[in-house]
Amino acid sequence: MMFKVGFFQFRPIHKKIEENLLLIEKYKEHIKEADLIVLPELATTGYVFENKAELLPLSEEIPKGKQSAFFKDLAKSANTLIITGMAERKGNKLYNAQVAFYPDGRVKVYRKIHLFYKEKTIFDIAYNEPMVIHYKDVNIGLMVCFDWAFPEHARILMLKGAHILAHSSNLVLPGMGQAGMRVRSIENRVFSITSNRYGEENSVRFTGLSQIVGPDGKILESAGESDEVVKIVDIDPSLAENKKITPLNDIKEDRRILLYKNLCIDDH
Ligand code: ACM
Repeated sequence: MMFKVGFFQFRPIHKKIEENLLLIEKYKEHIKEADLIVLPELATTGYVFENKAELLPLSEEIPKGKQSAFFKDLAKSANTLIITGMAERKGNKLYNAQVAFYPDGRVKVYRKIHLFYKEKTIFDIAYNEPMVIHYKDVNIGLMVCFDWAFPEHARILMLKGAHILAHSSNLVLPGMGQAGMRVRSIENRVFSITSNRYGEENSVRFTGLSQIVGPDGKILESAGESDEVVKIVDIDPSLAENKKITPLNDIKEDRRILLYKNLCIDDH
């Protein structure tokens, strides 16, 4: 079965939600070419905030708010599963969320669990486990930006059956996240889609170079450092069900889990 997947790489304007939604809307003709489109982390608000109080008014309860209504409409009219980063408010808590809007109106929320640098001073700690969602017989693992640096995260997604890792990003460490996600694809033999923003906010520079990677680590499609672009590739998700890396090595069956017990020891 073929499945069209893509990313929209752009530069969200800081705090300008309406403008960002208008820009996304402008790309609807491209978005509707895909079954799945991934948008960057915090795609509607921008990324750099002094503190929680500054971002809280721009966040919303999902799926009640206006941004959710926009994405619900877009997913329905484009007939595309849209996965985007958003700031989620829940009571007085604030989460760095990744939200999947289905064409049929369903909404699924994953809250980023590995907060990067000063995000720790802005967002609340999330306790959801790495999460896989399902669409058209395809299993999609959810990841937000710095989650790439924790191989356990992608591993769990693969073990839960993910064919694709959908990675919404605001990557800042040059080259690292993109290289890391190629490795996550290779070691789990899954596709990955990194949708990264570009541009600069308050001297923080984002690295662009969004990419779609195959289960063998090949880059199937990518963007430049500062392109505003939708890129789409036709993939066969079932290729990610073959975990053989040589005829005698299967990355799932060859794991030596009894020797990995220390992974779950909390020593800090
Ligand atoms: C990041 O997690 N936004 C680098």
